[in-house]
Amino acid sequence: MSNTSNEKIAFLEQQNKKAEQGGGEARIEKQHEKGKLTARERITLLLDDGSFQEIGKLVVHRSKDFGLEKQVFLGDGVVTGYGTVNSRIIYVFSQDFTVFGGSLSETHAEKIVKVMDLAMQNGAPIIGLNDSGGARIQEGVVSLGGYADIFYRNTLASGVIPQLSAIMGPCAGGAVYSPAITDFIMMVENTSYMFVTGPNVVKTVTQEDVTSEELGGASTHGAKSGVSHFSCHNEIDCINNIKALLSYMPQNCEDLPPFLPYELKPDERIEALNTILPANPNQPYDMREVVAGIVDKDSFLEVHKDFAENIIVGFARIAGRSIGIVGNQPASLAGVLDIHASTKGARFVRFCDSFNIPLLVLEDVPGFLPGTDQEWNAIITNGAKLLYAFSEATVPRVTVITRKAYGGAYDVMNSKHIGADMNFAWPTAEIAVMGAKGASEIIFRKEIKEAEDQEAKLQEKVDEYTEKFANPYIAAGRGFIDEVILPEDTRVKLINAFKMLENKAVKLPKKKHGNIPL
Ligand code: HXC
Repeated sequence: MSNTSNEKIAFLEQQNKKAEQGGGEARIEKQHEKGKLTARERITLLLDDGSFQEIGKLVVHRSKDFGLEKQVFLGDGVVTGYGTVNSRIIYVFSQDFTVFGGSLSETHAEKIVKVMDLAMQNGAPIIGLNDSGGARIQEGVVSLGGYADIFYRNTLASGVIPQLSAIMGPCAGGAVYSPAITDFIMMVENTSYMFVTGPNVVKTVTQEDVTSEELGGASTHGAKSGVSHFSCHNEIDCINNIKALLSYMPQNCEDLPPFLPYELKPDERIEALNTILPANPNQPYDMREVVAGIVDKDSFLEVHKDFAENIIVGFARIAGRSIGIVGNQPASLAGVLDIHASTKGARFVRFCDSFNIPLLVLEDVPGFLPGTDQEWNAIITNGAKLLYAFSEATVPRVTVITRKAYGGAYDVMNSKHIGADMNFAWPTAEIAVMGAKGASEIIFRKEIKEAEDQEAKLQEKVDEYTEKFANPYIAAGRGFIDEVILPEDTRVKLINAFKMLENKAVKLPKKKHGNIPL
């Protein structure tokens, strides 16, 4: 090899090394001191060993203002490319906080746009690892344009390829809207936050004193606002969560979710399911116990765990098949449907339907939550979201009513009438317009009022109503329930039902798109 080519090779190696150093040793150290990893360390943890192929490593910004021409960092604050997770291709961008605080310049945005376009063209998920001070302040409107280019692509990609966002540092201003359009957001406790305006602006406008953590930390968005779907203890936990989540999803909307090999046991009966429900139908129990008795061991990945706990949603496997579960949670607010539970459920149903993931509904619901708070904040519109989402879903859909299925909530929770394929009920199911006491007080009001012993009369009527309606047999007699099953047989019934439905093909009426009540 001639000297010239040696020099050229050395130059390239030097450039690559420079790019890999981001904002330099001191800033990397500062990043580590905060308990944060660097953009490249995160990618290394996420991808299969040696699989990362970087794109745009030598890109630099074009800015000449505010002395920026003298501060040029190869890669311009974001590491982009592709690689594999469990041998499946994904595209990734990882913002480098050590370069201008990971702020988004025109070229930084162009790099993200490039991998998004590749992900769309080639039908593979895109993962965003966000750690950024927002728009590159020195660049002004070109940076805003860059954000909008990303938002636009997030929207076009929605429902075509899975989009996952990890928030691993600041995420402020309009920057929050890209993650918000993606399918799932996960935040790292204590080191990440998201808000449209930070504590200083909040203080000026509303006089509220609030810390960044209180305003937009992981626990705030995980439990209060529901903006974030997962709160992770640290960055490693967060990256492992991304990998777990991907394992339930197909690569794109025309693909099927991965099917793990599963050998059926000679007897899949789960006797523990027989004893979960308390004797008193008004006592709570944890629907997660039912989930655990139905799905493949340890396969349940709960989404939105700390938000609207009266409904549970998450992914699981049943005989190796990926499914999405929506379950009322009697252990929280008796499993009632309110605004947050409805929007949480609806968003999850729509994700599963977008990506061919069959749905299982576990139902024990006393109805919609009454009250001015709910009515004035539009439980009507929000409850309709869940109804709409189920009605529109064309994936295989199976329901198991464990106990209460009352009122409008019976219709909404994946009833036969709105397109469910198989509807099972346990013998403990109560399918009626409302609970026996409420119903008796209305329909026997006069009789009770005129009785000598009103309490005894009410109880007599409650017993009569319970006997007549608080069971699954009237619905089964109509064919609204396909089969009343023993709890212990639930798993095997579901394995068979989902297998039977695996080639389901349903076409919705031709339209541009529906108009879900937003
Ligand atoms: C340019 C930025 C920057 C930005 C940080 N830096 N944010 N450079 N544009 N937006 C630089 C800093 O100058 C510093 O450079 C380095 O990044 C690290 O920042 P520090 O402030 O030292 O770090 P820290 O104390 O951890 O604070 C991080 C921070 C803070 C909270 C993010 O930097 C901050 O408040 N930045 C401004 C945030 C902001 O207002 N962004 C615009 C939002 S509006 P050196 O050289 O010292 O390492 C927006 C509109 C988008 O984004 C709208 C889209 C629709």
